[in-house]
Amino acid sequence: MVAGHPLRLVVVGRQGAGKGTQCVRVSHRYAIPHISTGDMLRAAVAADSPFGQLAKSFMDRGELVPDSVINGVIAERLEQPDARLRGFVLDGFPRTREQAVALNDLLAPASLNMVINLEVPVDLVLRRLSSRRVCSVCGSIYSDELPPRTPGICDNCGGELIQREDDTEAAILRRLEIYEQTTTPLLGFYTEMNLLEIVDGVGTPEVVLGRISEVLASHGFFEGGR
Ligand code: AP5
Repeated sequence: MVAGHPLRLVVVGRQGAGKGTQCVRVSHRYAIPHISTGDMLRAAVAADSPFGQLAKSFMDRGELVPDSVINGVIAERLEQPDARLRGFVLDGFPRTREQAVALNDLLAPASLNMVINLEVPVDLVLRRLSSRRVCSVCGSIYSDELPPRTPGICDNCGGELIQREDDTEAAILRRLEIYEQTTTPLLGFYTEMNLLEIVDGVGTPEVVLGRISEVLASHGFFEGGR
């Protein structure tokens, strides 16, 4: 929420572009919920629910979970009072033009304020993902470039750092391949809606966050109020 106005923001970008890293920071800075479909699906997998077992079979291969499944998960989350009143930063959804159309329908008569495309070259994302470690407790994200103070231990909560099950070379390459296929129609859709902003994702997380904040400010969204 930005001074009484909900901020409804989507962040897209290829795997390893830093969507999760930035969305956590944006969520804190603008006091809006961070809604990550990847995190929601991993929580379902960890709980070993029937839905989690279904999702796992797609995620381990780097494939997208079917729209019929993911659209329902998002619809339920966006109905929660925090998202309706304060807005959100969406991480990992939508990924396809079809999901973007579904999101528009879910939000109507309201609409998104902005879609940020975090741009990072493929060679850099491959380097980032091969060294990614995440906290098993709070989900904080680290890598060789952004190491924890104590190896294997989360700076924020002391939790154990683990490697994501889909951070294998085969699954990373498959996720990138699918991203390249689905991204052009998705970005075209948001360009037509005049919502798309491109942000350079190369640089320290603080530098990238500064660029995102500048773009938001240019549209009247400030940390302390609109
Ligand atoms: P999801 O969890 O969304 O994974 P992803 O799209 O593969 O994206 P990543 O998490 O790999 O990348 P990121 O951009 O968030 O990078 P991060 O910030 O971690 O989805 C997982 C799976 O769930 C999908 O494959 C699919 O099966 C399913 N799914 C999810 N949503 C779906 C949907 N809508 N429809 C269908 N299926 C869906 O950063 C990467 C690394 O870089 C980290 O190690 C980090 O420390 C480092 N780093 C980040 N920023 C910087 C920086 N500025 N400088 C240096 N290092 C940095």
